[in-house]
Amino acid sequence: MTQDELKQAVARAALDYVVEGQIVGVGTGSTARLFIDALAEIKDRISGAVASSEDTKKRLEGHGIRVFDLNDVAGIPVYIDGADEINVEMHMIKGGGGALTREKIVAAVATRFVCIVDRSKLVEVLGTFPLPVEVIPMASAYVTRELTRIGGTPVLRDGFVTDNGNLVLDVKGLQILDPVALETRINQIVGVVSNGLFACRPADVCLLGTGNGVQTLTLD
Ligand code: A5P
Repeated sequence: MTQDELKQAVARAALDYVVEGQIVGVGTGSTARLFIDALAEIKDRISGAVASSEDTKKRLEGHGIRVFDLNDVAGIPVYIDGADEINVEMHMIKGGGGALTREKIVAAVATRFVCIVDRSKLVEVLGTFPLPVEVIPMASAYVTRELTRIGGTPVLRDGFVTDNGNLVLDVKGLQILDPVALETRINQIVGVVSNGLFACRPADVCLLGTGNGVQTLTLD
């Protein structure tokens, strides 16, 4: 199976986690886009969605799915999103598409986080994929120096501005042995809006697309 077919399989499998009559939190990226297309087939069975990016909002609305402002919903039973890397502890690196901050906010509100990835995203140690860090523009040089001090090599994402009007530094060269500690440490650098480590709030379920079908990983 191709990588696209594996993504397609997990995107469809995620429909089983959508709660009837409720709001769905929707992530960003190529796998999330496939999920949105699948969700369109059952759109009459949900009350609407909360989007983690402008891109996702546009695609949901294009399918006629009502998109709610996060501030107008009381809760989100499930958030469905891809990842750039995930480990067996359900810690993830996200933000390859630059939507990390809004993704983290929607994930924080959601009761359950279902991560949909193809087999290539499952890793033993996070950090081969450069860690995205969203920064306030005036702080980018300072944050670059601070990230260098903790052992990374930050590279400014060229010509990219987030939905929040900020910049992204992609930090190479990190071998992330304690994702919770590193997520917390980077968040303490003044000028950082958020970082792409999703470890303090890991996924609850990972739907992993493999050549032998979709495997379901959980912490228990
Ligand atoms: C978007 O900012 C990211 O967090 C995506 O969830 C992540 O990059 C995975 O994207 P793909 O599904 O395109 O691999």
